Amino acid sequence: MAQIKNILVTGGAGRLGNYVCPYLKELGYNVAATDIVAPNRESANVKAKIPFIKADLLDCGELVKAIAFAQADLVIHLGAITGSTELQRPFEERELGPAPSGRSSMWRMEEDTCMKVNTMGTYYVLDACRRMDVKYCIGASSYYAYGQAGQIGGRPITIKSLPITEDHPMEPGDTYSMSKYFGEEMMKAFCRSYDMRCIAMRLMGVFYHDAPFAKFVYKFPVGCPTKNKNGYLDGGFEEHVDSRDIARFIGLAIEKFDELPNAFEAFHVWSCTHFDCETAVAYGAKYPAYGDMVKGIKGYDGLFSIEKARKLLGYEPLYDWKKGTVDYTNEEYEKK
Ligand SMILES: NC(=O)c1ccc[n+]([C@@H]2O[C@H](COP(=O)([O-])OP(=O)(O)OC[C@H]3O[C@@H](n4cnc5c(N)ncnc54)[C@H](O)[C@@H]3O)[C@@H](O)[C@H]2O)c1
Repeated sequence: MAQIKNILVTGGAGRLGNYVCPYLKELGYNVAATDIVAPNRESANVKAKIPFIKADLLDCGELVKAIAFAQADLVIHLGAITGSTELQRPFEERELGPAPSGRSSMWRMEEDTCMKVNTMGTYYVLDACRRMDVKYCIGASSYYAYGQAGQIGGRPITIKSLPITEDHPMEPGDTYSMSKYFGEEMMKAFCRSYDMRCIAMRLMGVFYHDAPFAKFVYKFPVGCPTKNKNGYLDGGFEEHVDSRDIARFIGLAIEKFDELPNAFEAFHVWSCTHFDCETAVAYGAKYPAYGDMVKGIKGYDGLFSIEKARKLLGYEPLYDWKKGTVDYTNEEYEKK
């Protein structure tokens, strides 16, 4: 078992950080959080008395200080700009128009912000780990890195096989998906060059069970769908990961870090589909372009396989609505 006692979590004031830090503290680790903004007083991290160190991901020196303060053996890198920042519509009257795919962004930031913060931020996190001799890093990547989330150019991504496994080719196309892809490549390079061990969590869209907005974004259970616009994967689909399952996944990954076959490993982290029917039936109807390939998806599993996490980490999602462990109803949600 890896000798990990002290953990620093970047993006610690963010949504996921407020599940991950208290969970790991409960498991007995010493956990500190860092972020560019101070944590909200009502947040789970403040309630759990998680120490906080302010640091900008774009400042390697601040990250080195945060690692020193936490005396970290492991850095969990969650901090990021969580969506593409290009193709924005800055002002109503100065309409840029959407990308050929119809894609636009709701963000109001400089268009290179996502690329800068996520790519250089990940580099500085890894470089601070190297300088401080931190050997373990777990980073939040995304299923977006496959390029599935509505490509800017409007072209479908190549699906080689279903379910998608971690060795499936990646075709990122926007700043967010590219930054996650480059983040993984940097982790691999640091493993190669500096004897680090890194895990990339390819997270599905995250369901925050106690955040009302999540219940608008993720509606379930749903029946078997009909064909989508194009008949192939071009954006949203009906599955997610629960933030509490991500925290559980991290707990398992820490225990197994040294037993993993490779210094760098990527894992899909997933909880459930939203369908009340078997997944192959649902996606067979929704994505006829994939023909018999959908038959590779077993039972209620998802488009993105978690067999690797099952086999190497003993991960099994707990927060699947079909298991009765998720309260997905609320009054506002019911009205929609
Ligand atoms: N939410 C999802 O559906 C989803 C899906 C897949 C992957 N992810 C990834 O999971 C991670 C956590 O996501 P989240 O939902 O908690 O997002 P979040 O926006 O709530 O948290 C991200 C945190 O990063 C911090 N941050 C941004 N720029 C920074 C900078 N320059 N320096 C320091 N901190 C900075 C923000 O202040 C924020 O607190 C992210 O890496 C995200 O890309 C999220």
